[in-house]
Amino acid sequence: MSDNEERTPEAGVEAKAAPAKTAPAAAAAAPAKARPAPAKAQAVDGPWAGEGISRRDLLRRGAFSTIALFFAQLGVGALAMFWPSKVSGFGGKVNAGKVTDFPVNGPPAKVRDGKFYISRLPEGVIALYWKCPHLGCTVPWAPDEDHFHCPCHGSIYERTGQNIAGPAPRPMDYMETTIAPNGDVIVDTGKIHQRERYDPSQLTRA
Ligand code: FES
Repeated sequence: MSDNEERTPEAGVEAKAAPAKTAPAAAAAAPAKARPAPAKAQAVDGPWAGEGISRRDLLRRGAFSTIALFFAQLGVGALAMFWPSKVSGFGGKVNAGKVTDFPVNGPPAKVRDGKFYISRLPEGVIALYWKCPHLGCTVPWAPDEDHFHCPCHGSIYERTGQNIAGPAPRPMDYMETTIAPNGDVIVDTGKIHQRERYDPSQLTRA
C-alpha cells in the first residue's frame, strides 16, 4: 500500500460499519403489514355478562333448553298416562273383594283400607263410611243388636246406614261403588255422599 493509498482509520471503520444491505434483511426491516383484527364477540348483558358468551351462543343455549324442556314435559305426560292412578287406600279406589264374599243380610264387612263397611241387601250392596255423622266417632257393627251402634253418644243405624236413634242428624254417609265384570266390588273412597235418608237408589245392583 502506497502513501497515496493510505486511509484514515475512520475511513476503514466506515467501510466495515456499512455492510451492503441484503434482500432478506431489507424484508425483515420492512414494517409488518397489519392483519385485520378478528371481530370482537358482541357483549351480552345480564347474568352472563363478562363470561365471554356471545349473543349467538346465548340464543343457541336458549333454543336447546327450550327443546329439552319440551321433551321433558312430553316424557312426564307419557309417564302419567301409563302410571296407574291410585287404586287402594282411603281417598282412592279400594277393591273390597268379590260380591259373593258378602252374604245377603249378613253382618256388614269392615274394610279397614277404605274405612267403610260393605253391607249387602237383597237388592244390592252399599259401602257405608264408618265415620259417625254426629261427631265423627268410628261406628262399630253390633252383632247382638243387628245394628250399627256408635259408642260415643249412642246413635244407632240400620244396615242400610239409616239412623234410627240417638243424636245423629242423618244416615251414615255412603261411597260410590261399582261391580266389576269379574265380580269385584270397587269402592271409590274419594266420592263420599251425604243423604237425608236411605233410598234403594243408593244401592249398587249385584
Ligand atoms: S259421635 Fe256418634 S253419636 Fe256422637
